[in-house]
Amino acid sequence: MYNFNFQNPTQIIFGKDRLDEISKHIPEGVKVLILFGGGSAKKYGTLEKVKTSLPKRVLFEFGGIEPNPRYETLMKAVELVKKHEIEFLLAVGGGSVIDGTKFISMASTCSEHESLTLLHRGAGAIPITKALPIGVVLTLPATGSEMNAFAVISHGDSKYAVMSPLTYPKFSILDPSLTFTLPATQVANGVADAFVHVIEQYVTFPVNASFQDSMAEGILRNLIEIGRKTIDNPADYDLRANLMWNATMALNGLVGSGVPQDWSVHTIGHELTALFGVDHAKSLAIVLPSLWQIRKEKKRKKLIRFAEKVWGIDEENDEIKIDLAISKTREFFESLGIKTRLSDYGILDTDIDKVIYGLKSKGFNALSETNDLTLDISRKILENAL
Ligand code: NZQ
Ligand code: ZN
Repeated sequence: MYNFNFQNPTQIIFGKDRLDEISKHIPEGVKVLILFGGGSAKKYGTLEKVKTSLPKRVLFEFGGIEPNPRYETLMKAVELVKKHEIEFLLAVGGGSVIDGTKFISMASTCSEHESLTLLHRGAGAIPITKALPIGVVLTLPATGSEMNAFAVISHGDSKYAVMSPLTYPKFSILDPSLTFTLPATQVANGVADAFVHVIEQYVTFPVNASFQDSMAEGILRNLIEIGRKTIDNPADYDLRANLMWNATMALNGLVGSGVPQDWSVHTIGHELTALFGVDHAKSLAIVLPSLWQIRKEKKRKKLIRFAEKVWGIDEENDEIKIDLAISKTREFFESLGIKTRLSDYGILDTDIDKVIYGLKSKGFNALSETNDLTLDISRKILENAL
């Protein structure tokens, strides 16, 4: 196992009917900006409940944070924060609202020029020494953003990942009943996204990390078990609760501590979202099976373990075992209603150049846990995914 530091400061407040506890976590008299997305939080009453739970604070609202939140939108919120000297940010939504709020929390403490540098070159490129405190009310289990320090922000034809430990939410309210209103496609996205988060931290090469491996396998098996059931039984609280907690644990640092990580599927997938508007999780379901087919020798040992421990494949021949694990994973995504081919989304072989250009322009020419996934290999993966 590699050396590692692990610290996760986010307090999780999990369960039914706990929205009114927000007031315990935001001091009285504070100016709070409540951030939300395109309308679901308003439509289903969550926003109103949040406001009612926060008397004796000065409340401001900023709505309209879009899926794959855009820099320009977020900078409008930054303007509001600066103008009213907001002291606390409360995100009510899924990964896009939470990520957007994290970016706003940092950008509010710097100039516009610095905000753009922060976006393009990361938090290390400018001296970010403070960020506004963040609280979260999660409405979509998927990204793990409610308990990590990452934000993925769109600008132009690109998505940028920004990370600063200053943006861990102070608290996150995880009430599974707030997810009853999700459309089936978003539930499926959440299952697939959480699944691939674990995969990116697990299907690499072995470093004898038994806790991390077992934990990863447990989450993957859980997601396989509850994924379709949650879509088919939308009013089942226990399924919602398990999906929510598995998704949070999939990307809060625990599974990935002390082990190699890959993130190639996400990096290539982000280009597909930025260029063609494919939902984040769907982009991953396209890239993952194809990447494994091309890279199965590199990931051989972990793919064999994944086949045995996650899919329970009992087969003598390792080649067949690996191929079966890959096809079962593809079938799993398809069973959730997620298509796994570029052509299913109208993306053609003539579009692949654009993806490669996007990767190249950001310097993504040495991806993977072994830094040897070149642009040529990315091209092969995309061609194989057509
Ligand atoms: O905008 P509204 O009207 O609120 O509707 C949203 C949105 O259209 C809707 N929704 C959310 N909660 C709902 C609901 N509809 C009904 N009932 C509810 N309770 O769902 C739609 C999608 O929301 P979004 O927040 O975009 O989805 P998700 O949580 O999947 O987030 C995706 C974003 O997270 C980034 C992705 O790149 C993408 O931008 N990621 C962030 C990560 C992180 N911070 O660690 C890691 C991930 O790999 C990912 O890259
Ligand atoms: Zn993801």
